[in-house]
Order: sequence, then structure tokens, then C-alpha cells
Amino acid sequence: MRPPKMSRRDHLRLMGTGATVLAGSAAGMMPWGNNAILKASSADVAKESPEQLADRARRMKWWHEARFGMFIHFGLYSVIGQHEWAMELEGIPVAQYQLLAKHFNPRPHAAREWAKLAKRAGQKYMVMTTKHHEGFCNFETKLTNYCAPKQACGRDLVAEYVEAARGEGLRVGFYYSLMDWHHPDGARCLTDEAARVRFVEYTHGLIRELMTQYGKIDVLWYDVDWPLSAEQWESEKMNKMVFELQPDIIVNNRNGVPGDYSTPEQEINPAKGGRAWETCMTLNESWGYHKADNNWKSPETIVRNLSTCAHDAGNYLLNIGPKPDGSIPEESVRILTAVGEWMQRNGPTIYQIEPCQSDWHVYANYTRRGNTLYMHIYHWPGETPASEWLEFFRLPSVLAIGGLRAKVQSARLFASGKPVAFEQGDQYVKFTGLPINAPDSPVTVIAIECDTEPVVNHNDVRKLRKREGVGM
Ligand code: GLC
Repeated sequence: MRPPKMSRRDHLRLMGTGATVLAGSAAGMMPWGNNAILKASSADVAKESPEQLADRARRMKWWHEARFGMFIHFGLYSVIGQHEWAMELEGIPVAQYQLLAKHFNPRPHAAREWAKLAKRAGQKYMVMTTKHHEGFCNFETKLTNYCAPKQACGRDLVAEYVEAARGEGLRVGFYYSLMDWHHPDGARCLTDEAARVRFVEYTHGLIRELMTQYGKIDVLWYDVDWPLSAEQWESEKMNKMVFELQPDIIVNNRNGVPGDYSTPEQEINPAKGGRAWETCMTLNESWGYHKADNNWKSPETIVRNLSTCAHDAGNYLLNIGPKPDGSIPEESVRILTAVGEWMQRNGPTIYQIEPCQSDWHVYANYTRRGNTLYMHIYHWPGETPASEWLEFFRLPSVLAIGGLRAKVQSARLFASGKPVAFEQGDQYVKFTGLPINAPDSPVTVIAIECDTEPVVNHNDVRKLRKREGVGM
């Protein structure tokens, strides 16, 4: 028997549904009751004034509604085609590695293809690497020659990206790595104060250029703050400058100070205290282009992850790693296109939803808006031999939810609008008259209208069910 406190994660582990299958999505479902954290206030939030909180709510409104974004890792590493950490993990000397800048020359306006795919996939914003750990700047800068416009490429790739994203009506985000493996002060800044001062000035200077050269920027996505502390990076001052230059921008938490949102990586792990959060994830196992990495997630996994993020009102930033010519790996195109087709039919059950207080299910996720519960069914039950003896499963096929604390008023298949018959007892609601095969793919959504905010709590079933004697 399962102990009463078993989480969905434990349950999936027992069932053999490993993290690799769901790519961490299991971690996103909280045992019922923990969703209260979405309403509590954390220390971070509590320190802020009502004005600051109101300003954040204003700046982040579009982001919360957007729910789904495209991450793009593009840089010199794409030429090697072995992950964006190749320089460090394979110990490539700087003098060698920087030769790549003479061979990195993507075709003009490759970013238009990225933006078109993002739009097709139902993604509402993009975040592109302006400078990754390798230190190469994809943008025009006066502070180093190690940048695309002054090397073989001869063009400002960030400018092309910004134009492409705006052309498709998508919001524009910049990823920026504080850690720098190329700059001479990038590591010695930790032990040499003069180097720190120079390197911090360089870093703030590059960020200033990014914040002034491209018009309105919607997101600044900092990454890895090694080797300095927030004080040493002067991160408060950094953010102050950013907000002075871009009053509507939102910033993440990876420059050592909390910023506007948390960034769980490769796992769906909602932030506590009502804080905004965004899971970033790869489509295979690499951020940068990795030609041999074929461990792609299926469209089903992506849709389920999106729904798991939406359950706890989080965003999902899903990565592509373009090839050196800027083209997108075929598998990424295939997966994102399939996800986009599903979003076309079911998008409203992901965008603009509200936190959902529900227990886990074995074949479905839930999202919610107002009094409507959206049941995202990924393993369609179809027929069960048990229907021969159990009236519960007649007529096939039956889908059921135990412990729904609301009265169902109507139900329909979301994509087609077709009404679904239902029957509600004390501890269950079951949907009947459904087709044997799943009507949609990879996930079918049933919209369930309730008389009040739907909450799903298994404990109700466990505690309140009528127990009818001992033995058989
Ligand atoms: C990690 C990696 C980096 C990647 C990032 C995305 O910090 O170092 O390569 O860009 O995650 O979240």
C-alpha cells in the first residue's frame, strides 16, 4: 500500500516512469495542499513595497499570459557541433577556440526561420544567446573585437534576431552569460581586484549596449554568475541600469539577485511564495547544436510538460540549437510543428490559465481557468476488461476523476466542442459515451465546467468513501 504522504514523483518512480521519460515533469505536480504555496508570500516578495509589486505585475502581465517561449542557443560552438560546453569540457585552448570566429558565418537572416517556427509552435516570446560562456558576442560592441560583426560573419546577429522576432509579433528576450571563458579577466577577477573592476565594467558595458542598441527589449535572461558574488558583480547596480534603460523589461534571477522570476532548469519545479517561474528545457540533451545527440523528446512529452507548467502557472522556455548556418535541426522542426498543431486546437487550455489545485492522476494533467477544469488526457483509457463485471466502467469508454470538490455542470471535448455525458457520485465524476480511441493527439482535452472553483483531492476519496465491511 502507498503511504498517505506519497507524492506524484514517488508514485511515478514506483511505476517506472523515470525523469527521462517525462523530462522532469513529475516534479511539477504537488501533492494536494502544497498548492497553497502559490498563495503564500515568500521572504523575497515580502521585502518589496506595494509599488514594486504592482510594477512587477504590470511588467509581467504579457509574460504570464504567454506561457510558452523559444530559447535559442547560437554561437561559435555550433561549428564544432558538440554542445555549447565543448570549450571547457574538452579543454580547448583559447587561441584554438577563437579560430572558430573565422568560420562562423550563418546565412543572413536565419533568425527569420526561428521566429516563424516559434510562431507556428504557439510560442509567444524568444530568448536568444547574445553571449554564451565562450565569450563571443553575437552583437555589435565597441568593447571587444570578439564579436560577430567584426569577424567572418560581418553582421550583427542580435539585430537580425530582434528584427525577425518583431516581424512575427513575438516578444524579444536576450540571454547573457556573466561567466566568460575567453576574456582575460573572466576568472582572475575572483582573486585580483583590479581585474574584477575591469571585468565588471566590461560586463555592465556590454549589457548597456544590449539595452540601448535594439529598442524595446522584453526579457533579460542572465546566466551563470561564476566566479563572483552578487556584490562583486554589482548586480543591484546592474539591474538598476537595466531598468533605467528599459522600464518595461523583466529580468531573471541568475545574476545573483532575485529579479522577477525563478529559472528551474531541465525540471518542472514551481517556485514557492507566489513567485513567478519559468522552466527552461532542451529538446534533446544539449542547448547548443550537438549533431550526435538524438535523444529527442516526443511532442507528447512537450505537450505534457507545457500542461504541467501551466498547472502551477509557470512558463516553459523550450530550446533550439541551430546549426552553424543558422538552420534548425529537422527533428526540432518536426517536434515543434506537431506541438504547434496541438496548440492551435487546445491553446486556450494552456495560455491565460490560473493555478490549479489538483492532485495527480495516472493518465491526465489538469489546468484551470475560473470554474473550468481542463483535463489533459495523455493515456486514453479506452476499453477495460473490467467492464464485464464492474458497472462503473460501463458504457466503455469511461474516464473518471476521484475527489473532485465541485459540482460538474457540463463537459465537452475541447477541440471539437462535442458534449461529453457525465455522471457524478459522492466521490467521483465519470465521463461516459467516449470513443474507444483518443479523439485528439498527443493529448485530448476535456473541458469540465463546474459550479465553483474545481479542486481535486484524493484524500476525500480515501477518508470519506463508504467502507462496506471486512472480508469478501
Ligand atoms: C546552464 C548551462 C548553459 C545553458 C543554460 C540554460 O546554465 O551552463 O549552457 O545555457 O544552462 O539554462
